[in-house]
Amino acid sequence: NDKKLWGGRFAEATDRLVELFNASVGFDQRLAEHDIRGSLAHVAMLGEVSILSAEEVAQIEAGLRDVLSDIRAGTFEWRLDREDVHMNVEAALRDRIGPVAGKLHTARSRNDQVAVDFRLFTKEAALDLASKTRALREVMLAEADKYLGRGEQDAVILPGYTHLQVAQPILLSHWFMAYVAMLERDEGRFRDAAERMDESPLGSSALAGTPWPIDRHATAAALGFARPTANSLDGVGSRDFALEFLSACAILSAHLSRLSEELILYSTFEFGFLTLPDSHTTGSSIMPQKKNPDVSELARGKAGRVFGNLMGLLTVVKGTPLAYNKDLQEDKEGVFDSYDTLSIVLRLYAEMLPKTVWHAEATKAAAARGYSTATDVADFLARQGVPFREAHEVVGGLVGVASRSGRQLWELTDDELRAAHTLLSAEIARQLTVEESVKNRLSYGGSAPQRVREAVDAAKAALDP
Ligand code: ARG
Repeated sequence: NDKKLWGGRFAEATDRLVELFNASVGFDQRLAEHDIRGSLAHVAMLGEVSILSAEEVAQIEAGLRDVLSDIRAGTFEWRLDREDVHMNVEAALRDRIGPVAGKLHTARSRNDQVAVDFRLFTKEAALDLASKTRALREVMLAEADKYLGRGEQDAVILPGYTHLQVAQPILLSHWFMAYVAMLERDEGRFRDAAERMDESPLGSSALAGTPWPIDRHATAAALGFARPTANSLDGVGSRDFALEFLSACAILSAHLSRLSEELILYSTFEFGFLTLPDSHTTGSSIMPQKKNPDVSELARGKAGRVFGNLMGLLTVVKGTPLAYNKDLQEDKEGVFDSYDTLSIVLRLYAEMLPKTVWHAEATKAAAARGYSTATDVADFLARQGVPFREAHEVVGGLVGVASRSGRQLWELTDDELRAAHTLLSAEIARQLTVEESVKNRLSYGGSAPQRVREAVDAAKAALDP
């Protein structure tokens, strides 16, 4: 144990349990690169404005680079009694270059230091998840393209559900494109968040700014930020940049969890819509026949922790008076965790989806069951001038007749159909196939092959302008 960097006023040593409780170095050492980048920008600026001499700057810079290479090499000794990444780096610098190291912290506080480190990290993480989200979107778009086939007849048909009851037939490609749309917004949320957090808090100092003639614009520019934060209290005391990142993570996770739920369900024996690749499924230690969708189940389950990370930080922040409070040390682990979790889930799905085999016969057969073309029969009547509400009632009656006798709509007799409405016939019921139903969904954004083709082409152009 050496003397604390803040030890001046203390007569008694820190309690061991307090030291353990207080220390964040176990997790914030992940910010070491960002911390040293911040220090290099700070010390260069201190030289520029003549707060430090050129020689002092050179010594500190060399020392920091030396520390950085030890950290990269894995030979750096992280010490719990040095509390956090900032004081570990600074104390190691002092070990190497002596008392001049103490000049690095001129016109700076750990409060603006941690705020700048964490912003650098979170901005990078947001941009990285934006591009990983984009990569998955590209994969799902390619799948949409693939299952659209060459002509209208090839397009794979899937039952569309509401309330998990068969509703209307759709194209599998249309289903993929729904996720493409969600992922596009998810990427946008990460990019928006990155843009909004693109301000450097460095130079806010402890909370009130500093009497030293620092150049905050210079350090902001050196660190790749668009500008410095405009208010020093806000600069050190706000964590909404992390909340925004965590919230974009939570929404993306919700989308990936819905996708997971669908894949799990559709891969069951009962649905039989798809087969997941052996490389991304697991077996059972007792039941030899099992092939379990663990990746999807974990992706669904991990949404819980990603949501938890958002709720956790919201709760940490809500009771803290301005500006910095040690509570804010709790801001990091959730961000690291959500970032790591989503990095892997996005990658796994990008690998797994192209290897997933869809069974077009099964999906089409399922799409035809459950009276999925009933709306088309009602629409047929309505096109002949029957008010839609009345048509709905008529077809509802037919579905009742058919379901009570275990038949499909096209299995009803001519007499039964004509009895329900004079405009109906067996011929018309026969024509109302799932292909026909899908083909007619021509409204903008609808599931007709032509519309989905346009949507795929537009999405490709948006990715590759
Ligand atoms: N380890 C601290 C954190 O993560 C660094 C800032 C400490 N500042 C302070 N005044 N104690 O928040």
